[in-house]
Amino acid sequence: MRRFLLLGASLILIFIACNKESTTETPSPVTTPELPILDTIPPTGTTRIPATPQRSGDANKGREYLITGDYVNSGPPLALATTFFGESDNLLDREGDNADLPYQFNAVTASNGVSVAAPNCLTCHAEFLNGQLILGLGDNTVDYSQDQGGQTQLLTTAINSFYGTNSPEAVAYEPFRRATEVISEATITAVRGVNPAGKLAVVLDAHRNASDLSWSEDPLYPIPQDVVPSDVPAWWLTKKKNALYYAGIGRGDHAKTIMAASVLTLQDAEQAAEIDTHFPDVLAFLKSIEPPIYPEITDAIRVTKGKDIFNIHCAKCHGTYGAIETYPNLLVDLENIQTDPLLAASNYGLGQFIDSYNNSWFGQGEHAAQLVPTNGYVAPPLDGVWATAPYLHNGAVPTLEDLLNSEQRPTYWERSFDSNDFDYQKVGWHYQERTTGGDSNIYDTTLPGYGNTGHFYGDKLSVSDRGDLIEYLKTL
Ligand code: HEC
Ligand code: HEC
Repeated sequence: MRRFLLLGASLILIFIACNKESTTETPSPVTTPELPILDTIPPTGTTRIPATPQRSGDANKGREYLITGDYVNSGPPLALATTFFGESDNLLDREGDNADLPYQFNAVTASNGVSVAAPNCLTCHAEFLNGQLILGLGDNTVDYSQDQGGQTQLLTTAINSFYGTNSPEAVAYEPFRRATEVISEATITAVRGVNPAGKLAVVLDAHRNASDLSWSEDPLYPIPQDVVPSDVPAWWLTKKKNALYYAGIGRGDHAKTIMAASVLTLQDAEQAAEIDTHFPDVLAFLKSIEPPIYPEITDAIRVTKGKDIFNIHCAKCHGTYGAIETYPNLLVDLENIQTDPLLAASNYGLGQFIDSYNNSWFGQGEHAAQLVPTNGYVAPPLDGVWATAPYLHNGAVPTLEDLLNSEQRPTYWERSFDSNDFDYQKVGWHYQERTTGGDSNIYDTTLPGYGNTGHFYGDKLSVSDRGDLIEYLKTL
């Protein structure tokens, strides 16, 4: 079972708090011991992002909460969902009602006692690779290029006619309905495979009163038109990062930052505070995830040579791997990196969103999260990088070989979206180069936000050095 037309495509981010009693006291903040850095002075055109105190948590509890927790408690009735999905392959080995649902949903009890199927974070943060589901690998196949509004309406009609407009089932579904309705047409991407989550955050924030996070039927500030695409980052990278998100805008308390999506169907700030007590555990789980290991044999001699090349040309930004792990947490200026500027630059045009978020429950209180616009992109850790194609923050480059040789990058390219169609030579997705875009299955790098320029650091390498370097990257 892969994609779920009626539900899956329109279920975006729904995080309603359950009325669970908060159990433990908040652990005191700790600063995760920072990895050493190679150079004490950051290279020209880069800025070092310092570590900030973070709450600690229990990774096992976090995993459990993530895949079974009722932090989302609105959605279609469970009975309807299980009938619709049919037999489940129970990919997460869950028990009870959860065993009957696809991995993107948790079986939970809504506030009024109705059992519902509510989407979880894996809607965007799990993906198949060679036919196997990898938890924490960003989804790079889902299609947000179509307006899902019609599908939500179909689902609403089905629930109303089957259960009745004022039935407990319809009431339990309502927060989900009102939220999917406002986001569906505001989050349409130009091509398949990229994610509109940044825009989603803006739309949802605009429908919240900053004071208590209560829902506002009308947006409280004008919502910008642009839908800036991003490729969903792998969760195992969070353990090294001092700032979250590609542009490094996620500062302060990371556990609070990563539950921000709850604004979709949250009742109010009180519910947010309850959800927040679980997120240090979720963050601990994300940090405990190890990247998948490259499944083919690598050439040991080339790997050794590649490591030397990496340490000369790449380590100053991406850190070192193996026996001596270092990571510098650098924000690289747009003039230096020269990749598509729209994602980073657009944050400066989102003043009302940033202010509203920073002044709301999220940005205030004991362990505040803050959004800070920046003028660049974080040089990410490269652990498991072989598995995270397509590359760059917008997924504009299909393979590592293309990334490290900018002349070779295709302007228009199409792939099968089959997780077995992996190219072990170039490392990434097999693709066909096309002469034009205009079809959502074809990645069009000429569109604003979808550009494939920049990151020219591999261009100067010889073909053989580049091959050695790629051989080494397979082992990270
Ligand atoms: C609609 C898809 C979607 C859903 C659902 C979603 N995310 Fe994300 N997430 C993204 C995208 C896209 C980004 C990258 C945004 C950026 O960096 O600009 C991201 C970034 C992140 C990051 C930062 C990673 C990094 O390296 O900086 C973390 C951590 C994260 N999400 C955790 C979560 C958690 C936990 C949930 C569930 C509570 C969740 N996400 C739900 C799409 C989603
Ligand atoms: C000046 C700093 C800098 C140097 C030097 C550098 N990179 Fe990067 N690299 C970055 C930044 C910043 C990004 C993110 C750019 C973006 O997404 O727009 C990045 C992205 C990447 C990615 C894509 C990661 C992903 O999952 O999308 C890979 C792979 C990579 N670099 C490999 C290398 C290699 C190999 C070298 C050496 C030849 C190198 N880089 C040199 C800063 C640097």
